[in-house]
Amino acid sequence: MTPRPVLRVEGLRVYLYPGWNGKGRPPEHPVKAVDGVDLEVQPGQIAALAGESGCGKTTLGLALGRLLPKAARQVEGKILLDGTDVTNADHRGLRKIRGRTLAYIFQDPLSALNPVMTLQEQLTEGLELREELSREDAHLKALELLEKVRMPWPEKRLRQYPHQLSGGMRQRAMIAMALAGEPKLLVADEPTTALDLSIQDQILGLIEELKNTLGMSVLLITHDLSVVAPHSDRMFVMYAGRLVEAGPTRQVLTAPAHPYTQALIRCLPPVGQGQGRLRPIAGSVPDLRSVPPGCPFHPRCPEAVARCREEEPQLKDYSAGVQVSCWQRSQAS
Ligand SMILES: Nc1ncnc2c1ncn2[C@@H]1O[C@H](COP(=O)(O)OP(=O)(O)OP(=O)(O)O)[C@@H](O)[C@H]1O
Ligand SMILES: [Mg+2]
Repeated sequence: MTPRPVLRVEGLRVYLYPGWNGKGRPPEHPVKAVDGVDLEVQPGQIAALAGESGCGKTTLGLALGRLLPKAARQVEGKILLDGTDVTNADHRGLRKIRGRTLAYIFQDPLSALNPVMTLQEQLTEGLELREELSREDAHLKALELLEKVRMPWPEKRLRQYPHQLSGGMRQRAMIAMALAGEPKLLVADEPTTALDLSIQDQILGLIEELKNTLGMSVLLITHDLSVVAPHSDRMFVMYAGRLVEAGPTRQVLTAPAHPYTQALIRCLPPVGQGQGRLRPIAGSVPDLRSVPPGCPFHPRCPEAVARCREEEPQLKDYSAGVQVSCWQRSQAS
């Protein structure tokens, strides 16, 4: 029997309505940030969600924990986290999901850490509330968490404030906080973009190691394919609110099928050179308020034919374990 996926997303559409306060009827012409996404993350898997800036990756990640801004609405679809329906969860259900099933880490640890609390206070505050531990036990648990994330000099760090830590240490502290609830799925949204290359690799290595030892799954959101390469099992490529390719990371990177994935990979600097940032593909991501008809990539696609401008392709099996949405890649109907 195949194990139950940790995350299952079905037909998800999330629209943003800039300037709307979330009350009454939403205005017309939304930004269709996520527009019909299906995906699954299996237990113990690191799945990467990659694509250029503005493709809807963060919006998708936030929808998983119902953390969308007021001006956004999930208009369609279903999200199952470890079998629990997130979309219809009540307040209590959501608290349980956010504390135990799902945790986030973001690019900027300073926005997640409280500047006026020591690490010990921040780590133990959540623990005491959640598990009603004694102060002493909470202290030991906090220390254990910092040891898990290989924080140098953890006893000393517990007494320090976020501004006293280096960027890499802050990121470790944020991961420690995320691990406190022993989540089944860690959503890491550009977790290393702000760090130096060598620290990036250390942090991603740490996430991978924790995934193995703690048995959690990870959704690694990034616009930087060179980050994904050594650290993920499966890859989802997102373009204009849709998935255009999904498959085992190695396969997608060595034999990309969708013209968009091919273009992304062509834009990567050769191994060992530069920051691994994408140089842009010619043209730009469409305004998600008015995505062109047909395949959203067709205006930038060197292979586009008439059908691509008229009909939207769906994600379909292409080769073993790989799905692609492209009329030029054997879509029967
Ligand atoms: N608060 C907002 N108001 C209006 N539009 C928004 C808002 N937040 C995001 N968007 C738009 O929604 C779309 C998806 O944004 P999102 O942040 O999810 O993309 P992303 O793939 O995470 O990009 P990046 O790689 O830059 O983080 C973009 O077109 C963006 O301009
Ligand atoms: Mg983002």
